Amino acid sequence: MTKFYTTTAIDYVNGAPHIGHAYEKILTDVIYRHFTQRCEDAYFLTGTDEHGIKIQKTAAEKGISPKEFCDMNAQKFKDAWKALDIDYSQFIRTTDEQHEKIVQKIFKKLVEKGDIYKHSYTGLYCSGCEAFLNEKDLTEDGLCPDHQKKPEVVEEENYFFKLTKYKDAIIKHIKTNPDFIVPSFRANEVINQLENIEDISVSRVKTNVNWGIPVLDDPEQVIYVWIDALSNYITAIGYDPDGNSDKFEKLWPADVQVIGKDILKFHSIYWIAILMALELPLPKHILAHGWITIDQTKMSKSLGNVISPTAVLEAFNLDIPDPLRYYMASAAPCGKDGNYSDEDFKEKVNAHLANSMGNLLNRTLSMLVKYFDGDIKPEFLNKNELEKQALETVKAVKHHFDYFEVQEAAQKIIELVDITNKYVTDNAPWTLAKEEKMDKCGEVLTNVLQVMTVISSLIYPYCPNIASRMAEQLGYDLDIKLDDINCRYLKAGHLINKDDIKPVFLRMDSELADKKK
Ligand code: ME8
Ligand code: MG
Repeated sequence: MTKFYTTTAIDYVNGAPHIGHAYEKILTDVIYRHFTQRCEDAYFLTGTDEHGIKIQKTAAEKGISPKEFCDMNAQKFKDAWKALDIDYSQFIRTTDEQHEKIVQKIFKKLVEKGDIYKHSYTGLYCSGCEAFLNEKDLTEDGLCPDHQKKPEVVEEENYFFKLTKYKDAIIKHIKTNPDFIVPSFRANEVINQLENIEDISVSRVKTNVNWGIPVLDDPEQVIYVWIDALSNYITAIGYDPDGNSDKFEKLWPADVQVIGKDILKFHSIYWIAILMALELPLPKHILAHGWITIDQTKMSKSLGNVISPTAVLEAFNLDIPDPLRYYMASAAPCGKDGNYSDEDFKEKVNAHLANSMGNLLNRTLSMLVKYFDGDIKPEFLNKNELEKQALETVKAVKHHFDYFEVQEAAQKIIELVDITNKYVTDNAPWTLAKEEKMDKCGEVLTNVLQVMTVISSLIYPYCPNIASRMAEQLGYDLDIKLDDINCRYLKAGHLINKDDIKPVFLRMDSELADKKK
């Protein structure tokens, strides 16, 4: 594997980011960081979706220009991702000049190809979906099922994209590539939606919607939502109908595009059709993640239960985002819904990160100092009976990531932590020391520390700060690629002094953690 290109959905900037947005970015960041451990050129794109009627209206209500409103809110997303250590390579905003210019060219190319045509239309428009709905998609009361709002009747002359032209090719692609849509149980849903598709409106008249990219040769029309938003994945990295950048040639097609299940239709149908029309290769995988609820309830402004990820970090007085990253990344099996609750968050990260993993390193290093002054003698570095297990875990973790099973991979890592803890209990190095079986005692401690190097690499994508605290105390280099991992990176000699042993993560309700407040 030489390159890995991953993207997230670009978030609407109507408001501030919530924990659902954070879930997707954390999930993608964990996947991205894992693949940086497997290839030289990993690239991670995220950003914000800034055009549309909703932004136009909200900005007008606030008495500011749409661009000012977008600038303000896009910054909130950037700030949140910084606080969560989301290590994106690039942040695209659909108001970026370069993006707007290329979107116009894409539109033009599709008009010239005959895949976009002008057509008079009466439709039911839901501003929540930013899309036209079909009569049969509405509830019995004529409401949009997602937004519980009555769509407006809109009569306009718009440009349409010939989605129907690509229907058969998309069905064929999905059927012949069963791992294209992840998880695969969603593929049937998409095939069913494809049965009833119609051509889609891709522009609006400027008098109705002016906050958008004008059509090049027809400025009374504004390119609407999906061609603008979806194109970000290629405009960001230098797609250009007049000649692509080297970066684009290297990175495209995307290896995985991460999105929520609510926008799978747009990505597995509209986006794929646009790519086919542009004669570009298709992304290798589309990962549709599930929905995050709060205390098992759907987040909504009206219920007042919308949680901001930075508010969580503040409420628990966390100096690193690792616990929240770990919790969110393992919140749900691949593609299924997950839940956030304060209690569960605290319980789970205390159990896994503090009690099991952190404590294992801490007490092993403490024993190494107590019995051996922190020295690893060459004779301790014999065969490691845990190595086989550790390498099997690396293999299993890689396998899960090949299928973007982020929670499942985390479970494997914690299993290795548990096995190593059991090894300590079974071998009781404190008893070996008491019985003066010092070589055996040193071997046991060293075996554990060697496995801890592997664990620090494996946990790194989820908990980059904790991993580097672990690696530092182990004298270990986190840049080692997963393919090169084994239990032989710990060197003989002096490893650590008593004063340099530090807990890598304190229990969230511990006195020590409280004192740091
Ligand atoms: O859909 N749980 O933007 P968006 C999990 N701009 N994921 C959630 C969530 C929740 N409670 N709420 C939202 C858009 N998301 C478009 C995308 S892409 C070219 C354009 C996810 O701000 C949602 O599924 O409504 C989507 O993937 C992302 O957050 C942005 O949602
Ligand atoms: Mg949405």
